[in-house]
Amino acid sequence: MLILGIESSCDETAAAVVEDGRRVLSNVIASQVEEHRKYGGVVPEIASRRHAEAISGVVRRALEEAGVTLQDIDGIAVTYAPGLIGALLVGVSFAKGLALATGKPLIPVHHLRSHIAANYLAHAELKPPFLCLVVSGGHSHIVQVKDYTQFEVIGRTRDDAAGECYDKAARAMGMPYPGGVALDKLAHEGDPTAYPLPRPRVEGSEYDFSFSGLKTAVINRLHNAQQKGEEVNKADLCASFQHTVTELLVGNTVKAATHLNAHTIVLAGGVSANSGLRAGMEKACGERGFALYAPPLSLCGDNGAMVAAQGYYELLAGHTAGMELNAVASLPITE
Ligand code: KG4
Ligand code: ZN
Repeated sequence: MLILGIESSCDETAAAVVEDGRRVLSNVIASQVEEHRKYGGVVPEIASRRHAEAISGVVRRALEEAGVTLQDIDGIAVTYAPGLIGALLVGVSFAKGLALATGKPLIPVHHLRSHIAANYLAHAELKPPFLCLVVSGGHSHIVQVKDYTQFEVIGRTRDDAAGECYDKAARAMGMPYPGGVALDKLAHEGDPTAYPLPRPRVEGSEYDFSFSGLKTAVINRLHNAQQKGEEVNKADLCASFQHTVTELLVGNTVKAATHLNAHTIVLAGGVSANSGLRAGMEKACGERGFALYAPPLSLCGDNGAMVAAQGYYELLAGHTAGMELNAVASLPITE
């Protein structure tokens, strides 16, 4: 079965064709990041306009590169939630138009479900159930994936998402948006014990995260040094920050896996590209005999292939929509 996947929830206009939820035939991504960099973050109005300009060409290229036509496609999957509402609406409207014109099923896909599905594209043997740490620019969740379309949230961030925290810390250190990748790179040159940072604990849930205090601690370090006329070793601060975030993410995930008796851990979302997180999780899983899966770096960020992969499983479960489908800015993964 061939699914066309369309993604426009943030600053990537993307489309892909995937066979049977597992085999990528094409994966086209038009990134707007250069444009948003000027403003230090994504400007929603600009994002919507760029999506509207790009989407038609991106979808056409995805079909061409897969060597198929719309007639060969069995379903049109689209990210409908959560995300920037104006950005989502471009993808949803375009997908609705295609579905109406072709009579093919329209498949609404939750963005975080698709990030998880990115793993199916790289790991043929991976099947639910498993425990997944989903960490992106907007979300940080520990999710029990009971089946392809059945989820339970075990833990979540109470404030900033992990990616957001990375980007804000990087920005405070003068790195351009989105600073996560640059911070990750510089961290390799630093000493992770140089700047002890707080490890906030969350009252009431042992699996929840809190990252905003960590971001503030980095900013305070920089300000204090500035006031005293001292030099901050940025590589050391990056390494300390990465070490602390990794410890929090790995700690809670492994604790949840142990309590739930889950032996397979999966990483997903933009921050799953982080080298510290991948190494830290590999070590923790190795020590406990847990299997670990992560998407290849090319599928960690937003893309259409992951939407098509999840769309395949949503279609098998009968989850299709009619022309009443609307974009939703905020929606739990369970709905
Ligand atoms: O999943 P994603 O592409 O978009 C959202 O759904 O939000 O995630 C983007 C986030 C950004 O905050 C970006 O800085 C972060 O993922 N990110 C990283 C790395 N690569 C991307 N954060 C830390 N280390 C990385 N290597
Ligand atoms: Zn994403």
